[in-house]
Amino acid sequence: KKLAVFVSGGGSNFKKIHEGCSGGSVKGDVVLLVTNKNDCGGAEYARSNGIPVLVFPKPQRESSSDGLSPEELVDVLRKYGVDFVLLAGYLKLIPVELVQAFPKRILNIHPALLPAFGGKGLYGMRVHKAVLASGARYSGPTIHFVDEEYDTGRILAQSVVQVIANDTPDELAKRVLHEEHKLYVEVVAAICEERIKWREDGVPLIQSKD
Ligand code: GRF
Repeated sequence: KKLAVFVSGGGSNFKKIHEGCSGGSVKGDVVLLVTNKNDCGGAEYARSNGIPVLVFPKPQRESSSDGLSPEELVDVLRKYGVDFVLLAGYLKLIPVELVQAFPKRILNIHPALLPAFGGKGLYGMRVHKAVLASGARYSGPTIHFVDEEYDTGRILAQSVVQVIANDTPDELAKRVLHEEHKLYVEVVAAICEERIKWREDGVPLIQSKD
């Protein structure tokens, strides 16, 4: 399956997915990296691994004329034959045109147990600070299908980590991120092997490999 990955920062999830593809555990091929930050770690990794990089959206400050429109972005994804779009630390809202062009084919990973601790404004360290402030005893990554809002699409997979009494946001973030890497590679492997079944009530389930 052809994959497009969207990042805004370090791209550690993107790297793990790419390694999974190269190593054969994921029957996928990352054909395009999309980012709103041309100089971010994820984009650097893509360039050093021969993966085309597309900037979307263009930074406001640059002349708006040369930015890709949402329709143009959809066209590029279609040209690359993209089957699935994977958001991994991408901080911009996905244009509705893209959501509509790729129904049930856009995934996102959020570093908390949605529907709790999600939504616009809750990203990065803010998520872990909110989890710690709440006294929650567990946290963990959620992988969900993307719809028109932040963090509200159908949940596909989650895994849990313990919140330890004196955790700093950074310690919790690291524990969750480690779990994200494992979960995302497993989920993308399932997606590429078409092991997702949609339950009557609309809940997507991952079929085991057997
Ligand atoms: C992490 O907080 C992760 O939970 C979320 O975005 C942040 C950066 O991830 N997906 P990455 O290292 O850029 O994959």
